Amino acid sequence: MERLMIKNILYGGSPGQKVSVCGWVRTKRESKGFAFIALNDGSTQELLQLVVPGASPAFRELPQCNTGAAIRAEGVLKESPGKGQKLEVEVSGIEVFGGADPAAYPLQKKGHTLEFLREIGHLRSRTNTFGAVFRLRNILAAAVHEFFQDRGFVWVHTPIITAGDCEGAGELFTVTGLDFGKLPRNNGGNVDFSQDFFGKRTFLTVSGQLEAEFLAMSLGNVYTFGPTFRAENSNTSRHLSEFWMVEPEMAFADLKDDMSLAEDFLKFLCRRALERGEHELSFLEAQYKRTSLDELRTLSEAPFSRITYTAAVAELEKAKEKFDFPVEWGLDLQSEHERYLTDTVFRGPVIVTDYPKEIKAFYMKLNPDEKTVAAMDVLAPKIGEIIGGSQREERLDVLEARMRQAGVPGEGLQWYLDLRRFGSAPHAGFGLGFERLVQYITGMANIRDVIPCPRAPQTIGF
Ligand code: 4AD
Ligand code: MG
Repeated sequence: MERLMIKNILYGGSPGQKVSVCGWVRTKRESKGFAFIALNDGSTQELLQLVVPGASPAFRELPQCNTGAAIRAEGVLKESPGKGQKLEVEVSGIEVFGGADPAAYPLQKKGHTLEFLREIGHLRSRTNTFGAVFRLRNILAAAVHEFFQDRGFVWVHTPIITAGDCEGAGELFTVTGLDFGKLPRNNGGNVDFSQDFFGKRTFLTVSGQLEAEFLAMSLGNVYTFGPTFRAENSNTSRHLSEFWMVEPEMAFADLKDDMSLAEDFLKFLCRRALERGEHELSFLEAQYKRTSLDELRTLSEAPFSRITYTAAVAELEKAKEKFDFPVEWGLDLQSEHERYLTDTVFRGPVIVTDYPKEIKAFYMKLNPDEKTVAAMDVLAPKIGEIIGGSQREERLDVLEARMRQAGVPGEGLQWYLDLRRFGSAPHAGFGLGFERLVQYITGMANIRDVIPCPRAPQTIGF
């Protein structure tokens, strides 16, 4: 008999139907000549109750059906007299694929802390919490493509290995084929990367933006969705060394278009999460009380607040709150400042625009005041920056001047400057940190709990 998923059984099955179901045992108990097994197969939050009559030959398999064991059960669907479930399976046969020694299985019935679960990263996805988070992650990833595909954006695949610190966004990981036992040296005693695999020093990418720009300047509207890498030594609840970023780039667009796209995009993602992940969201809301469904509903409807950097600094300067980091025009906003703006001033998401040019990347379009750039950061409650983007500088002379000021070497970026030589046009884009989005939607406090295998300084267990 074909295996059915528990989700399909619970939502599409009917009494009398014969079923075959596979999964991992959550609990087993015996009472009055019957055994009851609660089974989960990862397809849904819910458990399927298996009822094994004492007279059934399946009863002989029960000693092996401990918590954690992988089994197949066959039987007939019955209406369940129990609370909380409509259907259960009256089991006629059980096949045990792999048992689990109850004395050694790390996932016991009692709740575990998220910290402990991080130490068993290969098993934590069997818990309700991580099952919910990873299913929501999937819903959101599919919604990213749905949103852009419906609007005619072309999904482009930008490289993971690059030859330049394209934007000074962060520290880079070097990619090399050199033998560390005998590194070639040049006359100055430095490593001679001309003898390396690509004939020059190469890195893992920090962003696909610069490549997305040339693709936008030919295909119109594009987006990337892939892994990015940053070697910053940031041990925080919102930084990973390997994270996924969504980067749309639009030709013939300015900062206003960019902000509208970002806002529509986040709202759409919230709506999809509510529509397709309601069980998961309700479970997480009850469990962790961080992001509520009501909050997500509001977010998916109410307009985002907008404020310039200059006005935001004025808000922060008149705040009664004591901040750890100084507030002064020209300094970057720290996460405590961002959270003050979202959680106290606006009580919701806010888009901060027009930052001082000194604290933003060289490619952002210089505003007429020549002090600020056409940048925008979307700040989300509790998380802070979730999206960073800008209109791009399309004027060759201004861009070259900005590169000189910022100390960005021109060689290696000639192709980028070419885009301003041949058919230059206004264009804009942004980057959404996918894990920060998943954090925001699920309410998970630590970014390490929204990606199956978190990479962070000194952390690469799984
Ligand atoms: O603000 P960032 O550095 O912007 C860029 O990389 C631009 N090239 C994007 C663009 O305009 N195409 O990063 C974008 C987003 C941030 O807002 C944040 O959500 C996320 O990426 N992010 C991180 N997420 C997890 N761990 C880290 N270390 C992150 N660094 C940035
Ligand atoms: Mg940023």
